[in-house]
Amino acid sequence: MCGIIGIISQSNVSIRLLEGLKRLEYRGYDSAGIATITDGGIDRRRAEGKLEKLIDVVNDHPLEGHIGIGHTRWATHGGVTKSNAHPMANETVAVVHNGIIENFASLKENLIKRGAVFTSDTDTEVVMHIVTFHMQEGLTPFKAVQKALSQIKGAFALAFLFKNHDNMLIAARRGSPLVLGMTESELFIGSDAIALASWVKTLCYLEEGDIATLTLNDTTPEIIISDADGEIVQRPLRQTNITVDAISKGAFTHYMLKEIFEQPLTISDTLQSLISIEDESFHSPLLALNKPFSKIRIIACGTSYYAGMVAKYWFEKLAHIHVDVEIASEFRYRTPVFDGQTLNLFITQSGETIDTMAALTLVKQNNETCLSIVNVSESSIARASDFVIHTMAGPEIGVASTKAFTAQLVVLAAICLKFAKERCTISETEWTQYFQSFAKLPGCISELLRNDGIYHQLATHLCQVHHALYLGRGVNFPIALEGALKLKEISYIHAEGYPAGELKHGPIALIDPKMPVIVLAPHDEWFEKTLSNVQEVLARGAKVIIFSDEKGTKQIIEQTKTMKCLEIVTLPESNILTAPILFTLPIQLLAYYTAHMKGTDVDQPRNLAKSVTVE
Ligand code: M6R
Repeated sequence: MCGIIGIISQSNVSIRLLEGLKRLEYRGYDSAGIATITDGGIDRRRAEGKLEKLIDVVNDHPLEGHIGIGHTRWATHGGVTKSNAHPMANETVAVVHNGIIENFASLKENLIKRGAVFTSDTDTEVVMHIVTFHMQEGLTPFKAVQKALSQIKGAFALAFLFKNHDNMLIAARRGSPLVLGMTESELFIGSDAIALASWVKTLCYLEEGDIATLTLNDTTPEIIISDADGEIVQRPLRQTNITVDAISKGAFTHYMLKEIFEQPLTISDTLQSLISIEDESFHSPLLALNKPFSKIRIIACGTSYYAGMVAKYWFEKLAHIHVDVEIASEFRYRTPVFDGQTLNLFITQSGETIDTMAALTLVKQNNETCLSIVNVSESSIARASDFVIHTMAGPEIGVASTKAFTAQLVVLAAICLKFAKERCTISETEWTQYFQSFAKLPGCISELLRNDGIYHQLATHLCQVHHALYLGRGVNFPIALEGALKLKEISYIHAEGYPAGELKHGPIALIDPKMPVIVLAPHDEWFEKTLSNVQEVLARGAKVIIFSDEKGTKQIIEQTKTMKCLEIVTLPESNILTAPILFTLPIQLLAYYTAHMKGTDVDQPRNLAKSVTVE
């Protein structure tokens, strides 16, 4: 969601503020703006819609200044208008804000009574007025911000710019992340490390309640951080390995396509970080998982939740562990029973999803162990967990999660094997077979990607429909859900995922010749049952697309001779651990090519944000 950038330099910053905002586009936004100090005063440019509009405004009315802040806004309070776009500014202060000020309504009422005139519908504007009043009372910018923060409730990240202070920015974090960067002569603020890639290598992440003052005295940059108690503190410096290459599209038309094609590598990197295929052993992140537990509770949102659903099948079948899978936004507001014996496993690409974070806080308050699987290593959830396993997917820019999902599955499969080994629930032969299938997996995926023409062809049919149904059983039921989610997220085609056995309990009423049914059916223990369900939908005139393997394809052709499927796509052979990973690729490609043909904004679909930092 919203993105923040701030720069203090000795040269004009407006072009680089826009460049930073460009890198933050992936987070999702609907308006943008920048503000600088020119001749001691605050000047700003804002525009509704895509960044290109703001760039046009800045080209028409250039903005001078060596210090500035910028923002991409994902609307929460107030519609998508220029007047609601950040920075919020008056003559004294300009502010950009990620998150939500929960008590903004009562604060606004009081501020209006004191004479404040509001020009937007945002919650952010209250912060601007409070800081302004405190500065009018004679407080320094830092003290004014500190006092304002003691009055506001909610989760937020803020960056401030002040009149007559052309060498100082203030940044504050509570709930939403903020990162600072420093070179020999410049200072930066970003809502994530991606915003600052190419400018800085050394980063400093603010912690909960921190307020940072960034000052450039002549050519000397300085950062002073006060913690929630007002004490001056040092925060560790981290090196970022995010390169400009890793966050560029390269030769691909979209980030999503690039990220789909990166999967042979990201899967292989994630595997290698956890297991040694040659000697069939585990590496340290898995070995560290040594706390006893009696059951597992997996908590996540969206695509990450579907990864958790797959893991439930794996852990129960292969390691004989009881698993509950919870949607974080529901879990956090239920009254779960904590027994102190449960391993809580949080799955999140961004590590910033607010519901998942709140669920983690609840679990910690109840003294249970928290293990998280995250892609963004310095994220809030990674830092708050007892154990962390990193997915090696690299930065995922496309809003629709692809390579992060398959990397999560790889981590979960490796954890499952570790527990199965410890509990002696799989034989030596199975153990070796699983390791060997892992070794072959990146190659199988590369092969599948080399033959992506078929998905393009299928998309010509799919892009004309208004609804689609995805079916799967067992470990491929969550992949059916993921297939439906991918299609609706980026092509805006209504899609539902169902366990194939549920069809007769309602959804079969939807079947007619206009309803494509996409079936995930490797020749596994659930195959025969799924094939019966295929017969049922074929008999009702549905256009069926089946993904199977060689053995399955033969049987499908034999058994559906009279009622032919629209298409049968044959994938490489798989087993219970590799199938959900492998069968994810077709549903990603199908969604991508369908959306691309429809001409939607694949990387930044409407209304969506990459990391969901508001409830
Ligand atoms: O960053 P997280 O994995 O916690 O995000 C969870 C969901 O918001 C995310 O998976 C969402 O469903 C994606 N847009 C899916 O493509």
